[in-house]
Amino acid sequence: MSTPLLRFESVVKRFGGLTAVNDISFVVGQGEIVGLIGPNGSGKSTLANLATGASVPDAGAIYLGEQRLTGMAPWRIARLGVARTFQMLRLFPSMTVAQNIALAMQPGLQSGYPASILRTAAARRDDERMRAEAIEMLRLFELERFIDQPATALSIGQQRLVELARGLCTRPKVFVLDEPAAGLSPPMVDRLIEVIQRMRTDYGVTVLLVEHVMRVVQTVCDRVVVLDYGEKIADARPSEAVNDPRVIEAYLGVGKATHA
Ligand SMILES: Nc1ncnc2c1ncn2[C@@H]1O[C@H](COP(=O)(O)OP(=O)(O)OP(=O)(O)O)[C@@H](O)[C@H]1O
Ligand SMILES: [Mg+2]
Repeated sequence: MSTPLLRFESVVKRFGGLTAVNDISFVVGQGEIVGLIGPNGSGKSTLANLATGASVPDAGAIYLGEQRLTGMAPWRIARLGVARTFQMLRLFPSMTVAQNIALAMQPGLQSGYPASILRTAAARRDDERMRAEAIEMLRLFELERFIDQPATALSIGQQRLVELARGLCTRPKVFVLDEPAAGLSPPMVDRLIEVIQRMRTDYGVTVLLVEHVMRVVQTVCDRVVVLDYGEKIADARPSEAVNDPRVIEAYLGVGKATHA
């Protein structure tokens, strides 16, 4: 396997009496696309939250290379190169697509907040750079024509793709995607599959993909980590995982894995 990039080490997260994530260890190698699957409530989003600093584990730790992320503020983790999308849309509806993307990119810029207010030459250069970057990433999803539209002018599926474009604009090392295919039409799922693959080939991004749509998982993932009630029950190639009796049992009767 490639060099470990994102590493979960004996991670535990409890909510009151519920152990949502129980002693989970796994590694996402540099350049890998790893799926994180499991029935509803199995702990996938909780792990995504822990990786990006949105919540703090009760035990264990998460590392980016040698750097311990656990205990760091989310913005610091983001600045180290861990981006994410959320299961629920997080765009500002009345802002344009460009403004939504600019918000995510602002922390990395040279001129910073006060310079933007003073409209210095540096701030204008930043604006131009951001716009060029936003157009490049929106083009991946054929959404560049919406750049100056309010987010609400787009379908829910398109808004989800804008969130992916926004994350890519921050040039992450690791991109944690929480159910990016939810609400997408089958042709949009095709586009998503292609873009996730290009994240690696064209942008060198390592991906941790939480996803129920098995067509996406089986097409793009090198490996899948399978959770059930907060426990890791498999870590295998997608073709092996779907034939694993423990995995089949976890999904039986749950019926959430879809083949859209
Ligand atoms: N903030 C919270 N407070 C209390 N319980 C929580 C909280 N967040 C998650 N849980 C519980 O932890 C468990 C794991 O939730 P999580 O959202 O990680 O599941 P998931 O695998 O992402 O599910 P889904 O496929 O439905 O998105 C669930 O039982 C959930 O109800
Ligand atoms: Mg979830």
